Amino acid sequence: SRLPELLRAMPKAELHMHIEGSLEPELIFALAQRNQVELPYDSVEALRAAYAFTDLQSFLDIYYAGASVLLYEQDFYDMARAYLNRAAADNVVHTEIFFDPQTHTARGVGMETVINGLYRACRDAQISQGISATLILSFLRHLSEEDALATLEEALPLRDRFIGVGLDSSEVGNPPEKFARVFARCKELGLHLVAHAGEEGPPAYIWGALDTLKVARIDHGVQSEKDELLMQRLVREQVPLTVCPLSNLKLCVVDDLADHNLPRLLEAGLKVMINSDDPAYFGGYVNENYTQLFAATGMGADQAYQLARNSLEASFASDAQKADWI
Ligand code: HPA
Ligand code: ZN
Repeated sequence: SRLPELLRAMPKAELHMHIEGSLEPELIFALAQRNQVELPYDSVEALRAAYAFTDLQSFLDIYYAGASVLLYEQDFYDMARAYLNRAAADNVVHTEIFFDPQTHTARGVGMETVINGLYRACRDAQISQGISATLILSFLRHLSEEDALATLEEALPLRDRFIGVGLDSSEVGNPPEKFARVFARCKELGLHLVAHAGEEGPPAYIWGALDTLKVARIDHGVQSEKDELLMQRLVREQVPLTVCPLSNLKLCVVDDLADHNLPRLLEAGLKVMINSDDPAYFGGYVNENYTQLFAATGMGADQAYQLARNSLEASFASDAQKADWI
């Protein structure tokens, strides 16, 4: 079959990828050594062996520990260039990269250190690989809205270096309504808005993200199938869902890739596409997500084209860029 080659070669966008989740164990150890940071693991193998997750929180604990090696602008640059090399190799023509500034500013790392390192990597990758790369500042929902508002204020001097804001971290118990004011402020500022909703949390969190936060896309959203009225709305309004199959498998949101609901959501007319979420932790970059899900579910070329088209259409790229790709 030529399907794996089609999945690899077709131009696509990646709209749901956390840059801290692209930090490979080898780079974590290299940065720990470079920056004299102590790690609670003896080796790359011991760290990788700890990547056995039971739910979202069990992953987040290790993901935040891994990010502790990031101290200087060059660290953020090196991490992002490594991801952008992998993305370009997967024929990603455009990527919208989440970053979690609070994970770093809480450790005393400057906001400008984080943003300037990531932004310079995006610019250099555009020049040397032709990949379009933009940044989305993501608020940590386990922290307070006051902390998110202060983080936004700190980032505003660098407003031209990110295109939007998102909402991630521990979902259940931290509903979207908790962040109504900060998202309203971001909307006034003309930032693009997205939020994680319906990964582990209920359909009510997807309604809240749409109606209270006014987001343009839902990150994950796989729990929408539990609510028929919500499904109808997502189809009618063509709300993009940035689905992450290997993430859902590794965090036990689904028991088996063969049972993943993406083929059903696509068939029902929802604007879904495939993303890697945290590729260093979940077993692969975007093309690995495509090939494993297609192998498990028996989807074919028609679905492949539709998913790639959805990814490009759902992006915040300009109409001129989209006209080049689609
Ligand atoms: N969900 C919530 N928070 C996250 C994720 C995720 O999949 N990845 C990184 N932070
Ligand atoms: Zn995510």
